[in-house]
This record gives sequence, structure tokens and C-alpha cells, in this order.
Amino acid sequence: MGRVYTLVNQKGGVGKTTTAINLAAYLAYFGQRVLLIDLDPQANATSSLGVEKTSVKGGTYETLINQAAAGPYILHNPRLKISLLPASTALAGAEVELVPELAREGRLREAIKPLIDRYDYILIDCPPSLGLLTLNGLVAARHGVIIPVQCEYLALEGIGQLTNTIQRVRSVLFPELSVRGVVMTMYDGRTRLAGDVVNEVRRHFPNQMFKAMIPRSIRLAEAPSYGQPIVAYAPESNGAHAYSSLAREVLEGDGIRIPVEV
Ligand SMILES: Nc1ncnc2c1ncn2[C@@H]1O[C@H](COP(=O)(O)OP(=O)(O)OP(=O)(O)O)[C@@H](O)[C@H]1O
Ligand SMILES: [Mg+2]
Repeated sequence: MGRVYTLVNQKGGVGKTTTAINLAAYLAYFGQRVLLIDLDPQANATSSLGVEKTSVKGGTYETLINQAAAGPYILHNPRLKISLLPASTALAGAEVELVPELAREGRLREAIKPLIDRYDYILIDCPPSLGLLTLNGLVAARHGVIIPVQCEYLALEGIGQLTNTIQRVRSVLFPELSVRGVVMTMYDGRTRLAGDVVNEVRRHFPNQMFKAMIPRSIRLAEAPSYGQPIVAYAPESNGAHAYSSLAREVLEGDGIRIPVEV
């Protein structure tokens, strides 16, 4: 059965999408069958994989609102060996359209049930809010959430609110919701601030920090404009090495051996 992880942090621009696409790409590189679900109306994960959001015929929106089967909307990238359930501009309406619906927070969880056996990993990229889309992402996170935290002043700002939301989801909707790990992004080892921030986050999540830290890297920021994850765009860059390490750590934690040839 596949593992489902949701990338979440309601703070904008902390590296959720960058982590989602690059972790997805490295898990695929290491031989896993991977589905990335774009749950953000900005459709950054979709466009970062070279899919123009205005050309998307259907995807997350149809799955959530019309409760259509996701299968027909999944796009497969044969070179990267990643599958994508894309976001379209219509997804912007979903937050409001879901409000009157029954079992509205569980829509995505239901929608991916039939897919779980077809993939080893399903990663879900959330928007920067704690609205109904993100709640759907949390309830769908059967194996936990991955929280990217940017190495910056006030990095933990908003984390209390996120933790409260996770706690609320546990008490009302999904008691087993767990934090799979916290990943530090845009780390600049030359600054004292970065070290201080990491220590502060570690105090907050003592047993949940990934060892891999993602450096600030121009290559990581450039890759999406070429529609490529870092494994294809600049596999020798330090950003690539960091995401490769993160993927190895996830696989190791999940008890999955990486085939020796890679
Ligand atoms: N490690 C990094 N080094 C340099 N730039 C990065 C890094 N990670 C992300 N970025 C850049 O920072 C910006 C925000 O990153 P990203 O889109 O991944 O964040 P996000 O949390 O998904 O944002 P949003 O909340 O808007 O969805 C992007 O322009 C991205 O290219
Ligand atoms: Mg994003």
C-alpha cells in the first residue's frame, strides 16, 4: 500500500512546492511509483513540472467538487516517471464551493483510496492557508505531514496555529494524523541566524527534524521555469544533493531499500 504524505505550512513561500516536486522526483528516481497531487489553486507544482495550468482539462478540482474519479486526469511524465494530478484555475473556487458539502474535509482522502495500491508514494502539495483545501490535505495524509520551515527570522511564526489545526483534525476527523517530519529549507550555513533558527525549530520538534537540510540554491529556484525538478535540471548542484538525501531519509524511515544501481 502506498504512503501518503502532505506538504503543509500555511506560511507562503517556505518551500512546500519545491520540496513536493523534488522529493517526488527523487523518490521516482529511486524506483518508487510516485503521484504528486497539486492541491493549490496557484498550480505551482503543476507548472513546475512543465504543465501549463490553463491547458489542464481536469484534475484536483473535478476530483474534489464533482467527486469524479481521479484516474482519467492523472498525467504521467515518462522521463521523470512521476504522475501528476494537476491543479487548474478552477481550483480557486473549490474553497468556497466545498463549504456546503457533506463530509467536505474528507473528499480528497476518499478520492485517493482507489489510487493507493497503484503508487508507492502519494505527495500532496497544499496552498498557503489553513482553509478547506488544506484540511482536505491533512485528512488525506494517512502517513503524516511533512512541514517545510524556511530558515529565517520568525521561522516558527504560525507554527503554533498549524500545530493547533493538526490537533483539531486529530480530535475531530483523523485521530492518527502524525507529523512525519520537519524539513529546513533555504538554509545558508554561512549565517549565524540559520544555525539559531535550526536550533529553535529543533527545540520545538525534537524528534521530528529531517537530517537533510535544503540549502538556498539558485538552481532550485531556476528549475521550475524550465518545467523540471532539480534531478533533471542540475543533478550535481548542492540543492539536488540535499533533496536526494531527503528522499533517502524518507525511504530509510519507511523501511524501503534503494536499489543498488542508483
Ligand atoms: N532552497 C531554495 N533555494 C532558493 N530558492 C528557493 C528554495 N526553495 C524554494 N525557493 C524559491 O522560493 C520561492 C517559494 O518557494 P515555493 O514555491 O516552493 O514555496 P511554497 O511554500 O510552495 O509557496 P506557496 O506558499 O506560495 O505555495 C520560489 O520562488 C522558489 O523557487
Ligand atoms: Mg506552493
